[in-house]
Amino acid sequence: MIIPNNFKNIVILTGAGISAESGIKTFRDCNGLWENHDIMEVASIQGFRNNPKLVYDFYNARKAQLQSSEVSPNAAHHALAQLESKFKGNVTIITQNVDDLHERSGSHNIIHMHGELLKARCQKSQKVFTIKTNINESSICSCCREAGNLRPHIVWFGETPLMLDEIELELSKCDLFLSIGTSGEVYPAASFINYVKELGAMTIEQNLQPTKQARLFDIQITGEATKEVPRLVERLLS
Ligand code: APR
Repeated sequence: MIIPNNFKNIVILTGAGISAESGIKTFRDCNGLWENHDIMEVASIQGFRNNPKLVYDFYNARKAQLQSSEVSPNAAHHALAQLESKFKGNVTIITQNVDDLHERSGSHNIIHMHGELLKARCQKSQKVFTIKTNINESSICSCCREAGNLRPHIVWFGETPLMLDEIELELSKCDLFLSIGTSGEVYPAASFINYVKELGAMTIEQNLQPTKQARLFDIQITGEATKEVPRLVERLLS
């Protein structure tokens, strides 16, 4: 199928697969994060209340890895940043990822619907702070000056994703929807494809292998994101 290049509003949903080649584990692939951690223990409010130290340690470790020299944006992140800077229309990234690799590659128009590793939130005021160092139960919150109120600014299972109004607005305008590196297992992100198809957008899935949602997409591009996303961006900018 030919991909036209006269789109006006491109929305790109990214998942852990776009950061996999940067050395960040995905969740559901073999040796993924959920293979070695109980989701309810480290990614739920109940888990946080039961054992806050386990949860702080889990996110502090991921935060440290993200800021280590071994992790940096890859060619797929850079290609999306180039698309945003050179494309005549609007490009919005809606990411399920909590890393900052889209930002570090130069993208600006980013919605983090599952939160951000490098941020923490005061449970009293709901204020969000960028905190690149470890947080734990004794961390003093700069708004209430109390210990024990700071939690990772991550959306846990059972909690409501962030910026859903902004997301719906972007999806309602898009004429091209790209889904890159996500298994399509988690809602509401997994429902975006149905919404944009009803609105008549062209839809492309890029993944190592076809997901169970693949048949919903107009085009399926199979392969590694670092190879296929730059090629796709080149076609969109040609
Ligand atoms: N290139 C392209 N796709 C890849 C690559 C790669 N190099 N490596 C892995 N993938 C694909 C896998 O085939 C898989 O479909 O990335 C996807 C990763 O799926 P998940 O591990 O389920 O990650 P994701 O879809 O982002 O999970 C969504 O689930 O646990 C929650 O909050 C968490 O945001 C996460 C959400």
